[in-house]
Amino acid sequence: MKQSSYWLVLLPLAPGAHGLPGWPMGGTIVAGNAVQFDRGSWEANLAHPNATGNNSITGFDVSTPWPSTQIDGWHLVVNVTGDIPDSEAMNPSNATGKTFTGTSIFLQAPENLRTTFSYENAIDETTWKICVVVIPNAPQENATAAENGTCSIMSSQCVTDLQQAYADKFARNQDCYGTPPSTPSSCGNAINTGNFNVQQLPLDSISGKEVFVTASEPHSPSDGKALDDATAKVWPVLTIWGWNGRANVSDAPSPTVQLSCISAREVEPGSGTPDSAGSRYCGSAVAALVVACVVTYALV
Ligand SMILES: *[C@@H]1O[C@H](CO)[C@@H](O)[C@H](O)[C@H]1NC(C)=O
Ligand SMILES: *[C@@H]1O[C@H](CO)[C@@H](O)[C@H](O)[C@H]1NC(C)=O
Ligand SMILES: *[C@@H]1O[C@H](CO)[C@@H](O)[C@H](O)[C@H]1NC(C)=O
Ligand SMILES: *[C@@H]1O[C@H](CO)[C@@H](O)[C@H](O)[C@H]1NC(C)=O
Ligand SMILES: *[C@@H]1O[C@H](CO)[C@@H](O)[C@H](O)[C@H]1NC(C)=O
Ligand SMILES: *[C@@H]1O[C@H](CO)[C@@H](O)[C@H](O)[C@H]1NC(C)=O
Ligand SMILES: *[C@@H]1O[C@H](CO)[C@@H](O)[C@H](O)[C@H]1NC(C)=O
Repeated sequence: MKQSSYWLVLLPLAPGAHGLPGWPMGGTIVAGNAVQFDRGSWEANLAHPNATGNNSITGFDVSTPWPSTQIDGWHLVVNVTGDIPDSEAMNPSNATGKTFTGTSIFLQAPENLRTTFSYENAIDETTWKICVVVIPNAPQENATAAENGTCSIMSSQCVTDLQQAYADKFARNQDCYGTPPSTPSSCGNAINTGNFNVQQLPLDSISGKEVFVTASEPHSPSDGKALDDATAKVWPVLTIWGWNGRANVSDAPSPTVQLSCISAREVEPGSGTPDSAGSRYCGSAVAALVVACVVTYALV
């Protein structure tokens, strides 16, 4: 049985976005003004981000069949670029010299696993199912709260219940399509799963291809507010590691689900650091961030 329908994407944030002109192969949830761009020009801009965030997450050795073993080296990463010219949009005739601030979120496998699924056969034969759920509508939070990947925006009970709800919903060989499970009551109004959907990851995306992209409203190139907003934003992301029908196990444990919060709080050298971002940053108690902060100020 061929199960490479992993390309199927549900795009609640961009209705009717199946086969988006700029993103014809799917595999990426395209939100906001990112629909104005095609994948090529988007990636060229996001390859040189103004700010990034990079969280280590729990992952597995997917080069051997499920259940395999947990390994280090998996990362959830967010790239933010503050000045994507509107002349690089798909309809450049409308360009007025404004820019967009773009955000890409992706899962990156440990280096030795990045090419695991670069062959169609490997995708057709794997017993793994990997899903990545980006929660786009969590309330804005003090970005220092995301500094070690914990989601302090949510109570620990909410995190536990949310992970359990996803493990139950996508248990066994259940593909990760469709509507997410309803929000656990312990989460109060910290998140609302009503207006997002679940992405089953095209397995060849583990090398670091975008899972989720979004862009701001157009703004003047000198206006740093959109970049401030994008770097202040905290993205709760669920990763789900389970098995598919080829695993041929009928009563196996639930998938492993982890909630991690990522934020593009590391400003890249060469980027003008907006003051507000600088102070947010320097307020951090994490040594690595303090170092980054010093570097940033040295460059300013
Ligand atoms: C993210 O940024 C890094 C540089 O920090 C770049 O190497 C990588 O290609 C970018 N990835 C995406 C998906 O934008
Ligand atoms: C994320 O961090 C890890 C560990 O430092 C590094 O190996 C990896 O290249 C980083 N990913 C990106 C896209 O910067
Ligand atoms: C973009 O340009 C086209 C023609 O080049 C025009 O018909 C359309 O209304 C413009 N759209 C916007 C949003 O300005
Ligand atoms: C962010 O949170 C830290 C630690 O909880 C706190 O010290 C700081 O004042 C907060 N910053 C803002 C802007 O709320
Ligand atoms: C991560 O943050 C939480 C909440 O601020 C804290 O309790 C925990 O000790 C931190 N973990 C690490 C490894 O820094
Ligand atoms: C799946 O498992 C059943 C029962 O153990 C076995 O009869 C069947 O041949 C297996 N199928 C595959 C494709 O391995
Ligand atoms: C973003 O980074 C580019 C270099 O990659 C730089 O030219 C630009 O000024 C930066 N933008 C901001 C708003 O810092």
